Amino acid sequence: MNAKELRAAFVEFFAERGHSKVDSSSLIPHDNTLLFTNAGMVPFKTFFVGDETPPYDRAVSIQKCVRAGGIHNDLDEVGRTTRHLTFFEMMGNFSFGDYFKSDAIPFAWEFVTGVLKLDVDRLWVTVHLTDDEAEAIWRDDVGVSPDRIQRLDEDNWWRMADTGPNGPCSEIFYDLGAEYGDDGGPAHGGEDRFIEIWNLVFMQFDQQADGEQIPLPKPSIDTGAGLERILCVLQGVDSVFGTDEF
Ligand code: ALA
Repeated sequence: MNAKELRAAFVEFFAERGHSKVDSSSLIPHDNTLLFTNAGMVPFKTFFVGDETPPYDRAVSIQKCVRAGGIHNDLDEVGRTTRHLTFFEMMGNFSFGDYFKSDAIPFAWEFVTGVLKLDVDRLWVTVHLTDDEAEAIWRDDVGVSPDRIQRLDEDNWWRMADTGPNGPCSEIFYDLGAEYGDDGGPAHGGEDRFIEIWNLVFMQFDQQADGEQIPLPKPSIDTGAGLERILCVLQGVDSVFGTDEF
């Protein structure tokens, strides 16, 4: 698959499952907590926190992102790793108080293994330390082997900025192979070997400036799958700079 085909496959997969197609919004967000749009969920922040009523319960988008400042700052990684970019595209499916973990997790797995046909033997999953529910869904509903599921602390808690929507998350990693680093899965193995390709955020809180965590009106789903990283895996190239996008 080339970039154009991957974008189309992602959008169609989620449109077929009731998601409204939403165009990428500007890199300059309407939000004073961010300098740039740093994730697919940014244009939907007001829906998550309940300030505005969304015109749809489910959305799919491919959002242009820059991570150069604030709590998600990749600038110092670019050129030092094979997977960080100044500008990238994040594919995402979103639920605004509609479905939650028990649908979001199987959706991701079906796309990754059924549509992209990534080799299951190379996939690993992480969940937040506290998230027994997500682990049970991966293991019992999806059928991921328990020894491929690991628990992480802060790395599996996603937040948009110092304040705003946040919650525990669960990630899918692809093992590039022994030549890229130590074994041990994403929790213990080499960072260049186990590459994060998908993040499922279980949005539950709105963090205030004083640190208070206010529960969201409804638990929601925010996902992010890096277009260039997935292309890298699909095209069997060593770095995002080797994909057809570049
Ligand atoms: N918002 C989540 C992320 O950027 C999906 O990883």
